[in-house]
Order: sequence, then C-alpha cells, then structure tokens
Amino acid sequence: MHDDVGTGGHVPVMLERVLELLAPALSGPAPVVVDANLGLGGHSEALLAAHPALHLIGIDRDPFAIEHSTRRLSPYSDRTTLVHASSGDLAEVLARAGRTTIDGALFDLGVSSPQLDEAERGFAYSYDAPLDMRMDTEQELTAEQVVNTYSAGELTRILRDYGEERFAPRVAGLIIKERAKEAITSTKRLADIVREAIPAATRRTGGNPAKRTFQALRIEVNAELSALEAALPAALDALALGGRVVVLSYHSLEDRLTKQALTARTRDTSPPGLPVPLPAHQPRFRLLTRGAELPSEEELARNPRAASARLRAAERIRVDD
Ligand SMILES: C[S@@+](CC[C@H](N)C(=O)[O-])C[C@H]1O[C@@H](n2cnc3c(N)ncnc32)[C@H](O)[C@@H]1O
Repeated sequence: MHDDVGTGGHVPVMLERVLELLAPALSGPAPVVVDANLGLGGHSEALLAAHPALHLIGIDRDPFAIEHSTRRLSPYSDRTTLVHASSGDLAEVLARAGRTTIDGALFDLGVSSPQLDEAERGFAYSYDAPLDMRMDTEQELTAEQVVNTYSAGELTRILRDYGEERFAPRVAGLIIKERAKEAITSTKRLADIVREAIPAATRRTGGNPAKRTFQALRIEVNAELSALEAALPAALDALALGGRVVVLSYHSLEDRLTKQALTARTRDTSPPGLPVPLPAHQPRFRLLTRGAELPSEEELARNPRAASARLRAAERIRVDD
C-alpha cells in the first residue's frame, strides 16, 4: 500500500450520508464505533474528526490496511484500537477490547482501491500477476488453489452464485481442461481462458468477461459472505439503545444478506390476531433507509468505483429486558 493513497483521490464512498446517519448515535459522552472494514481509514478519519469524544475500533483482515490506517489515524491514536482480524470475529474483537456494547457500526464491504490497484495482489484481470486475491496475506487459500483444485461442480456454483456468470458451466469446463495441461497460475491466463469460454456474440457486450469470474473467486477466497453473515448480527447484538449501523455493499448477495439481517430485526413477530402486542415480539430495530440508497450522480462522476454501492442503515430502538 502506498503512503500517498487514502488522503488524496480515494474519497470514501457516500461519506456525508454515513456521517449523517451515524451522528445521532455518537453524540453521547463516550461513544464507541466499530469500523468493520477499516481499509484506508477514510471513513474512520472523518468519524474521529467529527466526534472528539469518540473511541473507534477499526478492523481489517488486510495487514497493509492496518499498517496504512495506523499511520493515517496516528493523530487520534489515544482514541483508536486497530485490529488485524476478520470482521467475522467481531464478537471476539469486542470482548478482547473489553467492550460489551457499542454505539455505532460501519460496514464498507468489498475490496479497497489499493487491493485492486496493486498488480501483485492478483485481484485485477487488467494486470498480469500471480493468482492470489487474498485480502489477508497470512491466510493459506489463494485463488490459484481454488482454480486448480476445486471440482467442476464447485467452480460452476461459485461462478454462478458469486459472479452471476450465465456461462458458469462453460467457464468451469474450460478451466478444468486447461489446468489439466498446465496449472493456471496467472491472472492473464485465467482472463484469457474466460474470454475463450464465453460465446463470441456475448463477448462484444457488457465489458470485460473476466470481471464476473474474478469477483466470484475473490468472494470465495476471502469467504466474504460468511464473514458478513457472522459480523452483521454480532454488530447488531452489540448495539446499545439508540445505536446505529450503516452498511455499504457492492454486489447483490451482500445487499441481500444485509437486507435480510436488518428486516428480520425490524419486524413485529407477534402471532397474528393478539389483542395486545407481546413485548418480546416487538422489533428491536427500525430501518433508517427506505430500500437501499444509492450514491448521487455527482459522486458517481467523481468516483466511478462508488457505482455499485448500496447503503442500508438501522437503529436499535429496544433492548432485551
Ligand atoms: C472498501 S474497503 C474500505 C474502505 C474504507 N471505508 C475507507 O474509507 O478507506 C474494504 C476493506 O474491507 C476489508 N475487508 C473485507 N472483508 C473483510 C472482513 N471479512 N474482515 C475484515 N476486513 C475485511 C478489505 O481488506 C478492505 O480493506
């Protein structure tokens, strides 16, 4: 990660809206917020600057993100706890930090700009690099292992479910054929195989055909959906009364999981037909967003990487007795 990224050019996605939504929850005397996807620390820096009493717990599974943000947030070092971990371990991170409740949580899912821009990390089909795609460079599983060891059935499922690739069986089939000749170890060779597997008529439309396969492999390598499935409920459970969560997701599966987790907690689950509502069945949260909010046209013009962003937020309105 370069020293100059994060402060210029890389504007955090929907920053003003994130600050606005979290502000009411962070106005107490000693508020605590969790940034579950610290990245370059852009959202975190703005939150710390806006709330002088705020303590921020920042989590990222990428050691370079922690290193970079430690430097960037050094003016606030007495108010930050930065942890190299998966957000899937959020409950443990909070326990270790001695926090039972939090006032805010922010999820800005997906990859960071440096992960995409640094060729050697192997996330991008536009550079030739080893097939890596690990956010946590200390983990074992790489994209190379997925591509060279998973069965045709497993590859098809990943490409279809995580990449929404219509031609998943064809791409998986050609991967299996090609890897039998020689292991597939580079982003370029994989991108070439995908291009060859996609019918020529379809290739002419819809951007680089490798995009969907690369997204699917990245989600698999980093177990992104299972981390979110664990992290979001853990954050919601930890929120104090009036506490708020904001989630920025970048593809439909993340957004669907987010929507499900939030709506499950904002529904009254009383059996129908009861004369009085049962307190135990009253919702513990209320939605702060109607549907998913999108970035403005103006933001999209400034930052094309915000294009697929979807924002949802909720507030805790009841605690268990
Ligand atoms: C879009 S970036 C966050 C950018 C950040 N909000 C900012 O303003 O600079 C997403 C970050 O989440 C991290 N990440 C993705 N999945 C994670 C997980 N399960 N646990 C912890 N960090 C994760 C990535 O390593 C990446 O640094």
